[in-house]
Amino acid sequence: MNLMKKMLVAPAAVLALWAVTAQATTDEAIAERLKPVGEVCIQGEECKGVGAVAVAAGGGARSADDIIAKHCNACHSTGLLGAPKIGDTAAWKDRADHQGGLDGILAKAISGINAMPPKGTCADCSDDELREAIQKMSGL
Ligand code: HEC
Repeated sequence: MNLMKKMLVAPAAVLALWAVTAQATTDEAIAERLKPVGEVCIQGEECKGVGAVAVAAGGGARSADDIIAKHCNACHSTGLLGAPKIGDTAAWKDRADHQGGLDGILAKAISGINAMPPKGTCADCSDDELREAIQKMSGL
């Protein structure tokens, strides 16, 4: 819910900035003035709403590595709670073989299974993003 609020606030802030800079003569001048806002948000990583807007707008700013580092590593790097370990392809393959392949374990990752939380805590991850993260962790 908090994130939704930020997502709504972020475009409003950009719009407000746009209005302030409306007298600028060229698009470049406006882009130049807007730039520091984006940079501050990315560096601080506090402005999640802005990042989400960028993704929604097709920015695709986060990679499978980002998602794994932020959401999956906590359990899958050490095998916490029985999670298959990153790079232990045999363990992942064994699961995939019993669940109907990569699509099968992707479905379990989305719904959650036992101690594995739904979407591995990445609530705003798309199915494709989760698939890429799983492929990267499993080597499948
Ligand atoms: C809170 C710990 C935790 C986090 C965070 C977590 N996992 Fe898991 N994951 C588990 C555990 C535990 C299992 C093994 C569940 C079982 O079979 O009992 C598991 C299993 C899986 C499986 C195999 C499912 C199956 O059908 O056997 C996939 C795929 C998976 N995780 C993907 C992910 C992805 C992708 C992320 C990050 C977006 C993630 N996990 C984050 C704990 C976690």
